[in-house]
Amino acid sequence: MKLLVIGSGGREHALVWKLAQSSRVEEIFCAPGNAGISGEVVARSGNPVVLVPTSADDIHGLLEFALRERVDLTVVGPDSPLALGVVDLFQNRGLRIWGPNQKAAQFEASKVFSLEFMSRHGIPTARSGAFEDPDSAVAFILSMGGRCAVKADGLALGKGVVLCSNEREAVGAIKEIMVKKAFGEAGRRLVIQEFLEGVEVSLHALCDGRTALLFPTSQDHKQAFDRDKGPNTGGMGAYSPTPFVSEEEIRSIQRTILEPWVSGCAAEGIDYRGILYPGIMLTKEGPKVLEYNARFGDPETQVYLTRLDNDLVDLVEACLDGTLSDSVLSWAPHVSVCVVLASGGYPGAYSKGKPIDGLTEVGKMDNVKVFHAGTRSEDGRVVTHGGRVLGVTAWGSDLGKARDQAYSAIQRIQFDGMHYRRDIGSKGLNILREKQSKE
Ligand code: AMP
Ligand code: GLY
Repeated sequence: MKLLVIGSGGREHALVWKLAQSSRVEEIFCAPGNAGISGEVVARSGNPVVLVPTSADDIHGLLEFALRERVDLTVVGPDSPLALGVVDLFQNRGLRIWGPNQKAAQFEASKVFSLEFMSRHGIPTARSGAFEDPDSAVAFILSMGGRCAVKADGLALGKGVVLCSNEREAVGAIKEIMVKKAFGEAGRRLVIQEFLEGVEVSLHALCDGRTALLFPTSQDHKQAFDRDKGPNTGGMGAYSPTPFVSEEEIRSIQRTILEPWVSGCAAEGIDYRGILYPGIMLTKEGPKVLEYNARFGDPETQVYLTRLDNDLVDLVEACLDGTLSDSVLSWAPHVSVCVVLASGGYPGAYSKGKPIDGLTEVGKMDNVKVFHAGTRSEDGRVVTHGGRVLGVTAWGSDLGKARDQAYSAIQRIQFDGMHYRRDIGSKGLNILREKQSKE
């Protein structure tokens, strides 16, 4: 089988790495990929993964490539080509492609769409309102007392959410998004939500339009600095499973969040095939949805795929064929931890082209896999080429061991300006310790 993977981040490196292990794959292309992806080899054929210099948003260029190369199956990583309708475009030309179609991808592409869907189907979320003009948005803020989340409706490179602690900040955020148009068209409409308190977890569920198979839980670390300080990022590290979500909470998530979502999609004719990734807040009143993503999380994918035992091609095909109810997800019992190494200045401005040292040495370590994100090859060297540069992923029999292994690998990696969080997994470890001291 010939595969095309769309995207260039750590998520796509993890997808390519896992797909390359499939007994059914002979060739993999990745558009546009990164230096780590081009270093992968397809297990069955021994063929190196080939990078294609087409951007993930150039959906017509991707179609042309897939038709020319007679690609058997395309796997979409990022949100933006999904929102642009890459799945519909490929399907109209008879090509097999994995990911939600444009209508289904609205769960991520429009926060207003998601909010209205949740309200129609009784899915628990924050008290929220959707607004098309700044005056009514401001009136809603005043009615809520100022502490809230102000969200641009559309895709805004992960930056469209402003967490506000008072009215002044919230009014400022509304102005920034609706009047100054900081996120362009994405901010034409707004969602304002009550600020939810609690522990945040990432859910992933594989869907074939009728069945949704829930993954174990994971936790991302969105803020740039330790103890959740600093600006929001795409994600600075993750681990799975989380030791603090009880079986009862999982059942409650299935019953109150996943099942009404599946039946809501069926009732509304939304044929969702791919990964649904809801961000969840575990609040005192139970789990509530913060937002939906219509794709794998980054860096959640890196921790999930280093635990998944199934052949990923089988699962992808089961989604497309509507046979997921016959599949059973199988997870290695170990804990995986991914720590993101970022460029100096990220998530603000940063420079590129810094040589990265230590990758060969870390490549020899046990239970460690370095997934590349913003990297490229330049004159035979791997250099930085993005904000999030590497996702150092390690696994072990418990969270402490997996984390120690990840941080010990990081000690051997170096590039100018490199920064990372030292506390990935700390929340999980603290909750575990508290639990153990009570027992
Ligand atoms: P989103 O892009 O909607 O996931 O928002 C980015 C981050 O902002 C989330 O991961 C949460 O940490 C935080 N967030 C979003 N909505 C809320 C909310 N209603 N209450 C508290 N935190 C929120
Ligand atoms: N982990 C954050 C995201 O993928 O959006």
